[in-house]
Amino acid sequence: MGAQEARLKRPYDTDAHEPSQERFSRRRDRRKPRGRLRSDELVPGRDDEAAVPEIAWMLERGYLDAIEGELKSGKEATVYLGRTRLGPAAVKVYRDLAVRSFKNDGRYRAGRYVGDARIEKALAQRSAAGRRAQGRLWAAHEYAMLWRLFRAGVPVPEPLVGPDASDIGEAGEVVLMRYVGDASGPAPRLADVRFTPDEGRRAFEASVHALAALWRAGVVHGDYSTYNLLWWRGEAVVIDLPQAVEADHREARALLERDAASLCATFRTHGVDAAPEDVVWRVVAES
Ligand SMILES: Nc1ncnc2c1ncn2[C@@H]1O[C@H](COP(=O)(O)OP(=O)(O)OP(=O)(O)O)[C@@H](O)[C@H]1O
Ligand SMILES: [Mg+2]
Repeated sequence: MGAQEARLKRPYDTDAHEPSQERFSRRRDRRKPRGRLRSDELVPGRDDEAAVPEIAWMLERGYLDAIEGELKSGKEATVYLGRTRLGPAAVKVYRDLAVRSFKNDGRYRAGRYVGDARIEKALAQRSAAGRRAQGRLWAAHEYAMLWRLFRAGVPVPEPLVGPDASDIGEAGEVVLMRYVGDASGPAPRLADVRFTPDEGRRAFEASVHALAALWRAGVVHGDYSTYNLLWWRGEAVVIDLPQAVEADHREARALLERDAASLCATFRTHGVDAAPEDVVWRVVAES
């Protein structure tokens, strides 16, 4: 947290769910490229992050005004904190996919539309082109899910590109969404918060409600646990949606059951003892 705080240079006043009127869209935002920035200007003093071509591209095209630093490097993506004219943004870049793959990737992909035989082939071969295509698919899918859920009022970060497919396609392997957090740092994951027993219960309830809201919106997360929920102003914010599936996917019910089980398992460290069957029952009953 300390290192992250040090990189948050400006006081931000942001509300995760305040709908903004503006989005980056090709139609409305025909900003001229501003010339190529030197790569060492991307993240001053951080050589290892300096050469992120996706970030350079976003700066050039005006999606980003500045990049503040890295928020978190995860299994499938690196998330940066960026400044945009819409406010602070989390910039999720799918890259280095050679060393990353979803659990049950084939299973998820089976339910997903790819629609291009060359991409299908590249994906199957796991070539460099295939991994890039994979990153673009994940980003596009995450955008589609974010848009659907945000519009349905489910607590997710507001997507800042789209909803037009052509705008999303242009953003490539990058998901630009509203930063959840403030000047002192990003919202913690539920897994990282220390709760009193009462607060733990409340956070669990909020997480079950969010799972039900996803289900009502026709979506199963597919990787639902305290690691993919942020805790912000007493609310659970759902993140990390590239593997989410439609509720009419043939394995949706099984995935919902697995999500409920992961949620319960990860809440046990907060002293909450709940049965996954009850969670599934509540989610289905609530909708
Ligand atoms: N909108 C956001 N606002 C603030 N922080 C965010 C936001 N989106 C993501 N993060 C941070 O970045 C981390 C990684 O994001 P995410 O879970 O989407 O990617 P991931 O590649 O699956 O990472 P991991 O493998 O760690 O789960 C999150 O745990 C969270 O700490
Ligand atoms: Mg995650």
